[in-house]
Amino acid sequence: KTILVLNGPNLNLLGKRQPQIYGHETLEDVARLCRDACGSGFSIDLQQSNHEGQLIDWIHAARETTCGIVINPGALTHTSIAILDALNTYDPPVIEVHISQVHKREAFRHHSFVSLRADAVIAGLGLEGYAAAVRRIVSLVGE
Ligand code: DQA
Repeated sequence: KTILVLNGPNLNLLGKRQPQIYGHETLEDVARLCRDACGSGFSIDLQQSNHEGQLIDWIHAARETTCGIVINPGALTHTSIAILDALNTYDPPVIEVHISQVHKREAFRHHSFVSLRADAVIAGLGLEGYAAAVRRIVSLVGE
């Protein structure tokens, strides 16, 4: 079984970008944490794109090939009805993750279109949020 861990714009710079907010660890560290969080019966497919359409194409492809999606849509969280619509075509569990505690930040980060679909939302746990989301998908879909 495969879990898609999808990352939106600017998260390729994780570790370098505003480390006071997002920390010093990188997307490779996210991949390692996610792999450690799921049993050997699961594989992690971690992807990142700065392009909305690419993220949507990956969600469509995941319909046939995955048992859950962990998504940090970056700033597209707050703007993208198209990502919401794509996730609404996807039946297995979807968990939304934000590294930072978005509700403590600017008001424009308080609203999420993706939350209208997400089965759970995690914010402010740092990179541990990805691992918690993976563990939740494992417990929802079964080993
Ligand atoms: C983020 C929060 C978003 O508001 C921001 O645009 C990001 C990262 C987070 O992980 O905390 O790019 O999703």
